[in-house]
Amino acid sequence: MMTEAVNRVKNNRLLGELMNLLRLVLETDDITEALNGALEMIVSVLKCEEGAIWLLAKDTNLLMPLCHIGPVSFTNITVENGLGVEGTVTRSGKTLLIRDTLTEDYPGSVLDDCGPQVRNMLCVPVKSPGQTLGCIQIANKTDGSSYDEEEVQLCERIAALAAITMEEKGFAVSVGEKKDVLITLRNVIKEFPSGEGVIRVLKGINLELYKNEFVVILGESGCGKSTLVNIIGGMDQLTDGSLMIDGKDFSRPTDAELTIFRREYMGFVFQQYNLMPNLTAQENVQFIADLVKDPMPAAEAIAKVGLTDRADNFPAALSGGQQQRVSIARAIVKKPKIIFADEPTAALDYQTSIEVLSVFEQIVQSRGATVVMITHNPEIARMANRVVKLRNGMIASIRVNLHPAAAKDLVW
Ligand SMILES: Nc1ncnc2c1ncn2[C@@H]1O[C@H](COP(=O)(O)OP(=O)(O)OP(=O)(O)O)[C@@H](O)[C@H]1O
Ligand SMILES: [Mg+2]
Repeated sequence: MMTEAVNRVKNNRLLGELMNLLRLVLETDDITEALNGALEMIVSVLKCEEGAIWLLAKDTNLLMPLCHIGPVSFTNITVENGLGVEGTVTRSGKTLLIRDTLTEDYPGSVLDDCGPQVRNMLCVPVKSPGQTLGCIQIANKTDGSSYDEEEVQLCERIAALAAITMEEKGFAVSVGEKKDVLITLRNVIKEFPSGEGVIRVLKGINLELYKNEFVVILGESGCGKSTLVNIIGGMDQLTDGSLMIDGKDFSRPTDAELTIFRREYMGFVFQQYNLMPNLTAQENVQFIADLVKDPMPAAEAIAKVGLTDRADNFPAALSGGQQQRVSIARAIVKKPKIIFADEPTAALDYQTSIEVLSVFEQIVQSRGATVVMITHNPEIARMANRVVKLRNGMIASIRVNLHPAAAKDLVW
């Protein structure tokens, strides 16, 4: 009896809130304000720490946060449709309820990257009969409980109402610009032999890399970052799926194709500089220039990394940061379309790291090449155009920074 009475009170209260919201949404001409109000209401009625409304930009297939509540700050971030909690719900048009992120299958969320850890989450589609416009997500109930059926329904009804109102008023969001695709990976799987069987290290990667963008790949040790980059860079072959580069199929290349492709298209920078000790800085760069058809002059590559006055020094006479800049010069002298950098600053101190990162920044800004950088340092992700987060061989999220930070403004 008692439970029933409590439920009835709760029901009435929620219904009352919903009616308030109805009025709010329908009375205001400012859709953004109405949606903000709706979100505030959901967060307060359901007592959550975080809330956000994501809307889909149809032309670029990116989700942008229209409004958010809670300690998280991500006005500068957009995510790709189909990925993470936000993208999964928007693409499928189905509600996702995760009572416990530790024990349930959890696709990951942008909130993980920007705020306190997500413990539970409810994400409902902003959906009209015709289309899904985005999603409303709330996370971390303050009392630690989860969302009950009634609360899920409440959110779904508010989201549906929001969708109808947005459609009626012809509200559309637009974010980002269309990009030229350089590389496309579809359902890429990579297995390595292990004992009797195999281990699957990449479990179906779908990713596009654009011309002249700066992509940072993050993820825990062993999640498959280097394996992924080795495949895109032609240093290893995929087990299944497809890899297209500049419109050509490189899924099953011959050794000869692979060699040309690596030599002409790709530049590599690693944590170790791998310079030849008996050649000067410029000779190290010239050595690589001599291998390709149409290199830039070695002196120009050296100048681009700011080492003209040290061009005649042998590696032993250069600091770690200077040696790393020589190795970047060696990568750019080939005029590659794409440069892969696997932990290029891991062995460097803060100041030197910033100098090296500034060189990469300059490469991208002068539209010289696409840069794909693996790092364990989340601060570096702030300077990327896009941040790809891998988890256990799959892409957990792709964030877009609409306003990437300058290398010199990074702090760690
Ligand atoms: N040639 C190989 N043979 C067998 N297993 C491999 C091979 N290369 C990588 N692996 C396994 O694949 C998984 C992913 O490795 P990978 O080097 O891609 O991880 P990572 O994300 O780059 O990690 P880290 O941050 O430590 O560099 C690991 O479990 C690793 O042991
Ligand atoms: Mg690695």
